[in-house]
Amino acid sequence: MTERYVIAVDQGTTSTRCIVFDRRGQLVSLAQQEHKQYFPKPGWVEHDALEIWRNVERLAPLALRRAGITPDQVVAVGIANQRETTVLWDRRTGTPIGRALVWQDTRTDAVVNRLLAEPGAAQVQRRSALPLATYFSGPRVRWMLDHTPGLQERAERGEVLFGTMETWLIWNLTGGPRGGVHATDVTNASRTNLLDVRTLEWSPGALAFFGVPRAMLPEIRPSVEVFGAATAAFPGVRIGAALGDQQAALFGQTCFAPGEAKCTYGTGSFLLLNTGTDLIRSNNGLLSTVAYQIGREPARYALEGSIAITGSLVQWFRDQLELIASAPEIETLARTVSDNGGCYIVPAFSGLYAPHWRSEARGVIVGLTSYITKGHLARAVLEATAWQTREVVDAMNTNSGLTLTTLKVDGGMTADNLLMQCIADVLDVPVVRPMAAETVSLGAAYAAGLAVGYWSDLEDLRRNWHRAAQWLPAMDPAVRGREYDNWQRAVRRTFDWIQ
Ligand code: G3P
Repeated sequence: MTERYVIAVDQGTTSTRCIVFDRRGQLVSLAQQEHKQYFPKPGWVEHDALEIWRNVERLAPLALRRAGITPDQVVAVGIANQRETTVLWDRRTGTPIGRALVWQDTRTDAVVNRLLAEPGAAQVQRRSALPLATYFSGPRVRWMLDHTPGLQERAERGEVLFGTMETWLIWNLTGGPRGGVHATDVTNASRTNLLDVRTLEWSPGALAFFGVPRAMLPEIRPSVEVFGAATAAFPGVRIGAALGDQQAALFGQTCFAPGEAKCTYGTGSFLLLNTGTDLIRSNNGLLSTVAYQIGREPARYALEGSIAITGSLVQWFRDQLELIASAPEIETLARTVSDNGGCYIVPAFSGLYAPHWRSEARGVIVGLTSYITKGHLARAVLEATAWQTREVVDAMNTNSGLTLTTLKVDGGMTADNLLMQCIADVLDVPVVRPMAAETVSLGAAYAAGLAVGYWSDLEDLRRNWHRAAQWLPAMDPAVRGREYDNWQRAVRRTFDWIQ
């Protein structure tokens, strides 16, 4: 019998990947392509949505060729995507209207501040279970409608469509202007400020508050469901799932039970705790978000601690400061010293996300003396990720009433042993990494495979999870306490530095 496979498209912040998986959840082949990052002004970050779609078109046959298989051997494709990145396009031509505004982009600062002062602000935040912040898509749509003459009217007539990246890809995969499916899933919709997170419908109050016409919004579907059959890139293959990449990682780590959590270390880092069918509201800086919905089953929710800048701090150290030539060198450089020498870097490049939500904060380096070498700076870069994790874990423990006893990790930065040890040290809990490092893609593949019966149930998926590495805490509690105190003092400095 011919072997069958599932393929995942992981459309991330810096690159897009197509990955073929087999029934045991093993990676069979991978094709990856970076896309250009546009930084037209301080705080602005843009992507070219067409470039990203063309990358998918190119990567799809490449991944199949590398796996030595044909499209008829693929039972389904699952999509995981960078969340909150906002694209508008012309329904008739399929042409994007300007560039996509990326989740890290802070240009909506003024929009957010104006809206926060309006009477409906509290209700919108409650309905969406999100703070009003530059991170989410709703304010971006408002900004885009305000900055292109005539766009509001065209959007009201249904001539302009809105989507996050999965919606854009599904539209193009299923035929684009010649009859594409205009749909999103509940996880991505839950990152817009426009969703009523309980009914899982667009909130009429939020649409009125943001002035976003209903006609431009996609249909909301469960995450695990057949969205349609592809006509491009993977002709004939069913699209079995779409999830935000962090929710996909939760799925890939098989955190299906309430109380199970994972943290993915990528451009930013995102700790998600499954809270089951309960929507737990945060009173201390976490987000409530939809974790996934399988068909018409009740949706599962998660508490999320979102950290904007972790891996991208290493990229900045490499590309802007040019202190290393490749990302993995940060570990080698950091190992040239035994501690941070009293130096702390707080990367508030896009403001600070969880648990602070201060969009006006800007990054600081504190504790500089002539003793400090680039080795100390490298250590401070890695420690910034560890201490930011500690802040969200503290908030998570307080908010959920549970105590995290171990942290499941994944993502590119988990290859850095020094960082993983540092995280175990500052959290004072073991950190574990599974064999399958590509958990975002794996989660999208699992979800798509589930939708078409390739895997029978969640237990079937759990059996594929195997531990690859573990780091145990080994830090003197007095040192931990002192260092955390220093970190928190450094964080407060970022609030002072307001332009
Ligand atoms: O919310 C933003 C997140 O989805 C981005 O993830 O891995 O593309 O940096 P990543």
